[in-house]
Amino acid sequence: TEAAHARLNAPALFAGCLAPRRNNSHKGTYGDVAVLGGARGMAGAGILAARAALYAGAGRVFVAAVDPGPGLDPLQPEIMFRDAAGFAFDGRTVVAGPGMGDSAGATHLLSKVIDGTGPLVVDADALNLCAASPDLAARLAAHGGEVVITPHPLEAARLLGVTAAVVQADRLENARELAERLDAVVVLKGAGSVIARPDGEVALNATGNPGLATGGTGDVLAGLVGTLLGQGWPAWEAALAATWLHGAAADRLVAGGAGPIGLTAGELPRAIRAELNAL
Ligand code: APR
Ligand code: MG
Repeated sequence: TEAAHARLNAPALFAGCLAPRRNNSHKGTYGDVAVLGGARGMAGAGILAARAALYAGAGRVFVAAVDPGPGLDPLQPEIMFRDAAGFAFDGRTVVAGPGMGDSAGATHLLSKVIDGTGPLVVDADALNLCAASPDLAARLAAHGGEVVITPHPLEAARLLGVTAAVVQADRLENARELAERLDAVVVLKGAGSVIARPDGEVALNATGNPGLATGGTGDVLAGLVGTLLGQGWPAWEAALAATWLHGAAADRLVAGGAGPIGLTAGELPRAIRAELNAL
């Protein structure tokens, strides 16, 4: 069976990257995460990714907004909002996609980030833009730094040029194929997320529940991957840990009565923080 070829995701696979917070550290020790998002009407997606980054330990978190808005999340004043045009993405971990949209401006900014060298998470519309442009996809495959992509089945299907049904019929093999083609670590999301590496190594995630089937939970996952990359984790371990923690947080919320019915993405970051500190 498929599962026989995949290992089961578990904290033992990424425990080597968990480091205690050192006494003589400072915010510069824990990395800058910048979410490239903030298109009008979708600002919440970028905020969810940014909150996940913050609650999972990033030193500083920015939303670099395609359409600059109010410039503040009143409920999360720690997040710094900047105009994406002119933002210095270099030297920062970038989470591209959540609430980014597919405007010409968004495409230009994405292409700039892909041609950079920092750790990179590619999600949502950033994936759709890569699916629509073979040139952008080729440049993503040639990206200098660590890359994790987090497609849901339809986003994966667009990248592979097939239907979502085809992707779902063999999730392990399609995740592997995508990892090889884009030379990136892939998290193929959905019940039983598959984490795949370009060399063919695959892991299957068993945490999480249908409470996660609600808008914005994927944005939280993307921000979580970004914060771990920003703290120096390699792409494979960052993807494994983020997927495991995200699901474990949802399971913790359900155990406490906050779901599965009506679980909200906004509740995840604090629950993720609890899981991370308990490891
Ligand atoms: N069991 C376990 N996990 C699940 C389940 C389930 N039944 N359903 C969903 N999940 C998890 C997925 O594994 C993933 O981590 O919830 C998350 C959903 O992520 P997305 O599909 O990206 O959903 P969302 O956050 O709403 O995406 C926001 O971005 O991808 C675009 O167009 C998309 O508008 C959407 C936006
Ligand atoms: Mg999504």
